Amino acid sequence: MKILLIGANGEIGQILKPAFTKNHEIISAGRNSGDFRIDVSDSDSIEKIFKEIKDIDACICVAGDCYTGDLLSLDEEKLNIGIKNKLLGQVNLVLIGQKYLNDNGSFTLTSGKMADKPVKNNISKAIVNGGINSFVLATSLELERGIRINAISPGKVSDIPVSDLVAAYLKSIETTINGEIIKVNY
Ligand SMILES: NC(=O)c1ccc[n+]([C@@H]2O[C@H](COP(=O)([O-])OP(=O)(O)OC[C@H]3O[C@@H](n4cnc5c(N)ncnc54)[C@H](OP(=O)(O)O)[C@@H]3O)[C@@H](O)[C@H]2O)c1
Repeated sequence: MKILLIGANGEIGQILKPAFTKNHEIISAGRNSGDFRIDVSDSDSIEKIFKEIKDIDACICVAGDCYTGDLLSLDEEKLNIGIKNKLLGQVNLVLIGQKYLNDNGSFTLTSGKMADKPVKNNISKAIVNGGINSFVLATSLELERGIRINAISPGKVSDIPVSDLVAAYLKSIETTINGEIIKVNY
């Protein structure tokens, strides 16, 4: 499978890339690193990468900044960091990428445990992750040409066995599941 891995140089990306390389062709992308540059908060940048890289079977996104801080410190500007990057970035990846992905391809987005088991100082992540999960549930009903979409919702990655994290992403790309939120280490 030809897989576009966005955020390949991050904590999760660096776990997935070597694990996937055994059986798949991995094209890495990031804001400042990887085979291709992309800024998911910029629609033009998303469109450009899908035009440049042909015949993508799976698009995995493990990228997207989000503000961490308590309720009193939160304001619209800080909330917008996560909304623009992690939420709308991944949403736009699908809105644009659906036109380019191969038939029967798949999108795998990354949300996180703060959506449904928040701890203090993570209101922004709770909002953003919840939005991603809802987007996946609703969008899975409408994608065409056999294209699927799922979200991986991990707990703190440093506490997760590597094999569990890899298995969750592999389940999304290698099986036929669609519209699932795969929770890892809750
Ligand atoms: N780590 C965890 O414990 C954990 C738990 C649950 C959920 N998550 C979520 O999983 C995702 C990845 O987490 P992580 O810890 O692996 O993140 P990370 O270590 O900060 O790495 C994120 C990677 O994404 C790239 N990136 C950031 N913003 C981007 C943008 N606007 N456009 C394109 N690429 C961008 C960066 O690329 P460059 O290096 O090239 O700048 C970086 O390599 C995040 O959305 C995070 O909220 C993480």
